[in-house]
Amino acid sequence: MYDDNGQKYLDLYGGHAVISVGHSHPYYVKMLAEQLQRIGFYSNSVKNDLQERLAEKLGQHSNYPDYALFLCNSGAEANENALKLASFHTGKKKILAFKKAFHGRTSGAVSATDNPSISAPFNETQHVTFVPLNDTNAVENELKSGEYAAVIIEGIQGVAGIFMPSDDFLKQLRTLCTTYNAVLILDEIQSGYGRTGRFFAHQWADIKADIATTAKGMGNGFPIGGVLIAPHIKPRHGMLGTTFGGNHLACAAALAVLDIMEKEMLCQNAELVGTYAINALREYPNVEVRGRGLMIGIEMPFAVSDLRNKLLFQHHIFTGNAGTNIIRLLPPLNIGKPEIDHFLTTFKACLQP
Ligand SMILES: Cc1ncc(COP(=O)(O)O)c(C=O)c1O
Repeated sequence: MYDDNGQKYLDLYGGHAVISVGHSHPYYVKMLAEQLQRIGFYSNSVKNDLQERLAEKLGQHSNYPDYALFLCNSGAEANENALKLASFHTGKKKILAFKKAFHGRTSGAVSATDNPSISAPFNETQHVTFVPLNDTNAVENELKSGEYAAVIIEGIQGVAGIFMPSDDFLKQLRTLCTTYNAVLILDEIQSGYGRTGRFFAHQWADIKADIATTAKGMGNGFPIGGVLIAPHIKPRHGMLGTTFGGNHLACAAALAVLDIMEKEMLCQNAELVGTYAINALREYPNVEVRGRGLMIGIEMPFAVSDLRNKLLFQHHIFTGNAGTNIIRLLPPLNIGKPEIDHFLTTFKACLQP
């Protein structure tokens, strides 16, 4: 990226994990421009073939070829619809979520978010219970009541500061949801779309979600969200709906992203370059490094705001944060080792007294 003086920046944050294939990728720009020449939007009451092409392609890429796709405009909206669908499907009200979870700011999504400071009194509900991440007993104690419509979990907790559910925990969670008839919703809005080296982070645990939600990297900056829905969950006509969701421009953006991911093998790159970065960062003393692929949390033993300002204003490197002590890296998936090396050298230099 460049500022208005022409100064070049290295973007290690991708605007909250949104920039997946790189800023202004020429193919992405071309696809959007060409689509806009044809038609940008028409109502969902008229069939839009691009939605079918996207559903088909996303099904293949994500290894969920038999899942239905509902298209919307953001991550919160995707989760909102996932929660509604689970409740419609089971006829139940309660949702199990995890401590420190972030699922968005609309009413349902914020109720399942463990942060009272962004929840208005209007959003308070008795329907959501929070249990600690990776605590199978706590999950089972709740689910055995039989009252839960769904469990919602992030593939990797992002906003909290990159906390991972263990593969074993995800496997057990899958079994518990099946045993107690609760819908397993995997929120892959930050951790999905190739970021960890699998299409969805939960696929490292070799499990299947009943519903998976996606947004952020899906449109590389064009607002789009998606809900992937297992075949056993039968939506009835009109159950979910949207004016803007799945519009022609959004579909063109999402199709362009998948084309680029395939051609440039960005999933593989995320795993390769991300593992390289994580291993190198783990060599630093007093630093705790968490994450997978290009979803990296670096927890420092001090507040990181000065360090991040130094990286940005002196060395022109964008980073993100979580809480006070954690640097969050969510770079575009086409980042290479030279850029990571540049960051590592600069980071090391910034840590010198
Ligand atoms: C895991 C997760 N879920 C949901 C959301 C909400 O997405 P949006 O801001 O597009 O509504 C976010 C946003 O940061 C997120 O990280």
